[in-house]
Amino acid sequence: MSDVIKSAVTDAPVTSVPLKPLGKVLAVTSGKGGVGKTFVSANLATALAKLGHKVLVLDADLGLANLDVVLNLYPKITLHDVFTGRAKLEEAIVKAPGGFSVLLAGSGMVEYSQLAPEVRDDFLHIMSGLVPHYDIVLLDTGAGISDVVLFAVSLASEVIVVATPEPTSLTDAYATIKVLVGQQKRQNIRMVINQAARLGDGRAITVQLQQVLDRFVVTEPGRPIKLIHMGDIPADPAVRQAIMRRQLLIQATPSCPAALAIGQLALKIEEAVITRGR
Ligand SMILES: Nc1ncnc2c1ncn2[C@@H]1O[C@H](COP(=O)(O)OP(=O)(O)OP(=O)(O)O)[C@@H](O)[C@H]1O
Ligand SMILES: [Mg+2]
Repeated sequence: MSDVIKSAVTDAPVTSVPLKPLGKVLAVTSGKGGVGKTFVSANLATALAKLGHKVLVLDADLGLANLDVVLNLYPKITLHDVFTGRAKLEEAIVKAPGGFSVLLAGSGMVEYSQLAPEVRDDFLHIMSGLVPHYDIVLLDTGAGISDVVLFAVSLASEVIVVATPEPTSLTDAYATIKVLVGQQKRQNIRMVINQAARLGDGRAITVQLQQVLDRFVVTEPGRPIKLIHMGDIPADPAVRQAIMRRQLLIQATPSCPAALAIGQLALKIEEAVITRGR
């Protein structure tokens, strides 16, 4: 695998993303698209809400938002209306079936896929106002290293990179991590391996990725990169069935292997991000 990853070494794009991470904000991102970020965000939020936490999920995949589809929610007011001054922020926050709150981007956000400075300021302002009201805010971001994705991630105090065991997903995860380290000076990156064939695969993959990073990514002295393996979610046919029915897996089939894995992930996030952050 390390050969595959080596070949994906890319130069970070030059952007002026300011790193202003907010407390208790967890970005869920990935190198490659379609690896399960939205599925993980929605179900992790459900599991954290079941543990008694006040959770907000923000659809930060501005250009290609689809959290609404996964949650089967079609609110009249979205983040787009807040940005354009047509609605107040409180009006755009809706209750999701999993017992958490959600702020949906809305299709009108497509125009924001190119980030203008005022959009960044609006976004930051909205986020800073929201964060104190929740135990944790999850950002369901887009994939890759575009300005809009990196900006959304830069707002978060913690990052989860979701990857599948496929070589293409791992090379893209490597490229993303490299940019997050180089551009946002991140040291700790949390890893979730989704669609794992066998539980335990994710730990081995994370160790391999760590070795390649240690070898090829130069960091400031005394600031090594640390990949933290948070868990594996098995490939499970129940995931697709739940998505097809527009249901949350945790509610539709709470005892299927993927739902149990997300429950475990929620306990880890609670310990590492919510409780420790208090
Ligand atoms: N653990 C799993 N087992 C089986 N299928 C899965 C699993 N996780 C995700 N999938 C499948 O992958 C699809 C894509 O998931 P999802 O939309 O969450 O990815 P994404 O990373 O948010 O994509 P995008 O980059 O487009 O935002 C799901 O619709 C589902 O069919
Ligand atoms: Mg998504």
